[in-house]
Amino acid sequence: MTVVVTGATGRTGSRVAQAAEAAGLTVRAASRAQGFDWRDRSTWAGTLRGADAAYLVFPTDVGSPEATRAVGEFAEEAVSLGVRRLVLLSARGEERARPTEEALRVPGAEWTVVRAAWFAQNFSEGPLVEELRLGGELVFPGGEVREPFVDLRDVADVVVAALTAGERYVGRVLEVSGPRLLTFREAVADIGRAAGRELTYTPVPARRYGERLAGFGVPPEEVDFLVELFESLLDGRNAHLSDGVRKVLDREPRDFAEFVREAAGAGVWKA
Ligand SMILES: NC(=O)c1ccc[n+]([C@@H]2O[C@H](COP(=O)([O-])OP(=O)(O)OC[C@H]3O[C@@H](n4cnc5c(N)ncnc54)[C@H](OP(=O)(O)O)[C@@H]3O)[C@@H](O)[C@H]2O)c1
Repeated sequence: MTVVVTGATGRTGSRVAQAAEAAGLTVRAASRAQGFDWRDRSTWAGTLRGADAAYLVFPTDVGSPEATRAVGEFAEEAVSLGVRRLVLLSARGEERARPTEEALRVPGAEWTVVRAAWFAQNFSEGPLVEELRLGGELVFPGGEVREPFVDLRDVADVVVAALTAGERYVGRVLEVSGPRLLTFREAVADIGRAAGRELTYTPVPARRYGERLAGFGVPPEEVDFLVELFESLLDGRNAHLSDGVRKVLDREPRDFAEFVREAAGAGVWKA
């Protein structure tokens, strides 16, 4: 089976590519580095032709109107080229991602949606890590809300299971989380202990956080989108566990402590 892995240089895509190869699939990496651009439809057919399946991850956020449009058009093009097995990464509790999930369900598609909790790797890769590493502080609109951070290796294993388990997960929404609820404060404290340094967590209202982002040069429409996203996603609606990892992989999800130990060992949060 040849699987097109979008976002293959990113956090989830790189791990999906690795897990897919370990499962014996042929991976066709697809990001701008390989000439595939979500914003340029003329690059899609060459990426899809001859493949059997695709992992879809839309950059920045699955809940943007742009994601809905692109995922729908991509799914149509994929099915028309015989690429019927489609697995989309979505987000748990994100109402605005539902139209994108709907857009995947084009006639002929063997679709699966994987709705993930907050990534544990948000603390080790991506925009939050520099602030923690260099400033020793995480300023974030996470209040004291609890979240079951999920390890991306588990997300990738679930995606690969959806790709390879025949009809089993076709037409299904799989919700995946870690095994334990933690506040952002507790997560940062765990990271600080493992990294051997004092790290602090400073909760701020989403609007104030948006002002900070604007100060860092994030465009106004993206700031508005993120403020609304954080206000809704971090209101406690996701303070519960999901059993997708256990149901699909027949094992417990990796604990946040394991992620922290490994990332600290690799020196991720060294000043
Ligand atoms: N963060 C969370 O906790 C969380 C939770 C649930 C769901 N999600 C969803 O996860 C998704 C982000 O996934 P991720 O963290 O794996 O992404 P990521 O690490 O930010 O990587 C983005 C990937 O997309 C590629 N890319 C960027 N712009 C592109 C374009 N115009 N055309 C083609 N490829 C492009 C990048 O590679 P190039 O630069 O080489 O193109 C990169 O491989 C979003 O949809 C978000 O809603 C996030």
